[in-house]
Amino acid sequence: MPRTGLRLKSPDQMVSESGTDLEGHGLQRTIGPFQLVCFGIGAIVGTGIFVGLSDTVAEAGPGVIVSFVLAALTCVFTAFSFAELGGAIPVSGSSYSYTYASLGERAAFLVGWCLLLEYGVSVSAVAIGWGQYLNELLGNTVGWRIPAALADAPGHGGVVNVPAVVVMLLAAVLLVRGVRESARATAAMAVIKVGILVLFCAIAFTAFKAGNLTPFAPEGIGGIGAGASLAFFSFIGFDAISTAGEEVRNPRRNIPLAILVTIGCVALLYCLVSVAALGAMPWEQVGGKPAALSLIVNHATGSTLGSTVIALGAVVAIASVVLAVMYGQTRILMSMSRDGLMPKVFARVSPKTSTPVANTWIVAVVFAVPAAVVPLDVVLDMTVIGTLAIMAVVNICVLALRRSHPSLQRRFRVPFHPVTPLLGVAFSLYLMYGLPLVTWVQFAVFVALGLVLYSCYGRRRSRLAHTGPQETTPEPAAAPATPAATGATGAR
Ligand code: ALA
Repeated sequence: MPRTGLRLKSPDQMVSESGTDLEGHGLQRTIGPFQLVCFGIGAIVGTGIFVGLSDTVAEAGPGVIVSFVLAALTCVFTAFSFAELGGAIPVSGSSYSYTYASLGERAAFLVGWCLLLEYGVSVSAVAIGWGQYLNELLGNTVGWRIPAALADAPGHGGVVNVPAVVVMLLAAVLLVRGVRESARATAAMAVIKVGILVLFCAIAFTAFKAGNLTPFAPEGIGGIGAGASLAFFSFIGFDAISTAGEEVRNPRRNIPLAILVTIGCVALLYCLVSVAALGAMPWEQVGGKPAALSLIVNHATGSTLGSTVIALGAVVAIASVVLAVMYGQTRILMSMSRDGLMPKVFARVSPKTSTPVANTWIVAVVFAVPAAVVPLDVVLDMTVIGTLAIMAVVNICVLALRRSHPSLQRRFRVPFHPVTPLLGVAFSLYLMYGLPLVTWVQFAVFVALGLVLYSCYGRRRSRLAHTGPQETTPEPAAAPATPAATGATGAR
């Protein structure tokens, strides 16, 4: 293999290796399209809309509506790319696997590394948000709150965040019991939280005053752009659908379908929530306030019952994000481990439960540490920049794979190619541009650390390096693929 070559793994090799661990113990295909959409909603709707909306309002004012539209557009363009790739390469590794097939092993390792921000670090952040709403609910219902020392991070009035740790361990218990059980729990929670947000809109629209929407952009275009970067956090998680590729029935059809239905529903719901919220109350009274949705409902109804209902909804909503995002993290580590880029323990599937038990517990325990001792705001921006970088790469993967594997079986194809993936890249970069310099510096250090790890561990342990690459392509151009090289049928 030339030193300058890319180590590429063919999509067909990935699919043929998928579904089992290295000892042949298999995952089960039990998830149907409805459960998959619920899983997507379960992974998306949580801390971002329930906790983060007020911070976004503080940046953008009523223009937050445009911020949500910009964030939604970024996700929709990229969702098309995930739909094409998820249908063509239905394996657990998601963006990591797509990158391995199109841009090579080093880029794939870095994407997998950044996925630790999108999934692992974000699950810690989401668990912290859950603890806040649990306390709100306890205060409203039983008149007792978990003492600050046991409910917050050091430096924020606490010692250790116990609720955040508890919700992560509970999610791990459900996940190791089996995918069917966790998918059912996630489906129930998704239905409840969509119901809560629809109820919020119905109540808030009764207090709608057009005057609350003026001036529309008090912080200017810059505020709207910065708001879009923050709003993006609320959309993170739709790609988790593609991590279920090995446990979904008829994945080539159901994965693209579920991704597009989910992102369409969530984008519509969020835009409605932001219009309802900003129309119901002057933005200055919402911006930066804790539990803003409860506040607006109280304002609209003149009763505190609303805040209790919303807090209950948030507790359910955020718990399901923890469950779904933790699931995604374990499946990505499983894929990387099967490729030799992570230790073997992450790929082991229990023959008893058909789930990666050790992997799940390691993820829960490792990411419970930041959940216990790190404040929420420290991890949010890092999650956003890492996820946006992955989104840009996934759009590039579509362009690269169309060139290198034109005959690959694609049940769904991105419309208006190459314009749509290029817009996905442009929008992702625009939202990254809205993040603070300190986040860029932290991200650069994180990526540099990933490169060092790849050189010292991944590159040497790579299974592809030992078994021999299916395809090795000299940089920079990708080799033209033939049906024989891809093993593709040419079917669409
Ligand atoms: N989108 C997820 C949330 O808002 C990360 O909690």
